[in-house]
Amino acid sequence: MNKVVNTYLEKKGKQIRPIMVLLSARLLGGVNDNVIKGAVSVELLHNASLIHDDVVDDTKTRRNAETINGIWDNHLAVLIGDFFLSNALILASETGDIRIVESIASLGRLLSIGELDEIYNARYNNLTEEVYFNIIYRKTASLFVSCAEVGAAAAGETDHHKLAVLREFARLLGLCFQIKDDIFDYFSDSEIGKPTGNDLREGKITLPLLHVLEVDDSDRHQQMLELARKEMLEADEIDMLIDYAVRNGGIEYACETMQRLRDEACKLLCDTFPPSDTRDAFVTLIDFIIDRTH
Ligand code: FPP
Ligand code: MG
Repeated sequence: MNKVVNTYLEKKGKQIRPIMVLLSARLLGGVNDNVIKGAVSVELLHNASLIHDDVVDDTKTRRNAETINGIWDNHLAVLIGDFFLSNALILASETGDIRIVESIASLGRLLSIGELDEIYNARYNNLTEEVYFNIIYRKTASLFVSCAEVGAAAAGETDHHKLAVLREFARLLGLCFQIKDDIFDYFSDSEIGKPTGNDLREGKITLPLLHVLEVDDSDRHQQMLELARKEMLEADEIDMLIDYAVRNGGIEYACETMQRLRDEACKLLCDTFPPSDTRDAFVTLIDFIIDRTH
């Protein structure tokens, strides 16, 4: 266990979720021991979900390093993921705050449903933007909403309106996070640290291609639609779909969508909370998520 976990921890990732917990607590009260426990709990649950996700997606690299299933095997990765998940729940319960336990536990349920949704939709070719947004809320944005809830609860905040605004900010930030993550799948760049074309290989159609398939009326449209619906894609077919999405403005559309969500989130935050370093840090965080290169 130590060997696997220590190897895994050499690449810790950006730790955006615990930052979100700390900032939420700072905005609504202050950082205390329970906030720290909540932040660690969320990061552990997130990592548990990634370790399991790499088994589900059969991915061998993440964060420019080999995944646990890549180095060892699926059996080990499932068990290490379980270990992380259990530790997340222990830390949540150590806060003694049932709202935090509830938030973390419900999150595990939502993430699993999100993941299942995605597999279901990949199989049955449910290609609409509404379905896409539902999936990315469940599989990604819900985690950011939980960060806001955990931070607020641990800081002792009880103002329902402030919490509702922060939850909505977190939801919009989380949607931007996943759209950006999905855009990465269209480009081969070593900085990203994970393979490209993975989503299409899994039959997952994300916003750039989804949009182009919805609006394009050129001669290629029917052929691309049929390809996108195909069960198993060959490497050259994946390249063709990526090229089609990129050339027809799919990436620009996804970027505009992130910008729209970002503006909505910042307006909401700035209309509710007075100027402060913490409020500025939230704006910097959402801009970082949109502009990041990995
Ligand atoms: C990454 O998505 C994966 C997730 C956001 C959630 C994965 C959730 C589960 C495996 C189920 C829940 C698990 C636990 C332990 C509660 P992605 O595949 O689109 O992104 P990637 O490119 O980073 O792999
Ligand atoms: Mg994955």
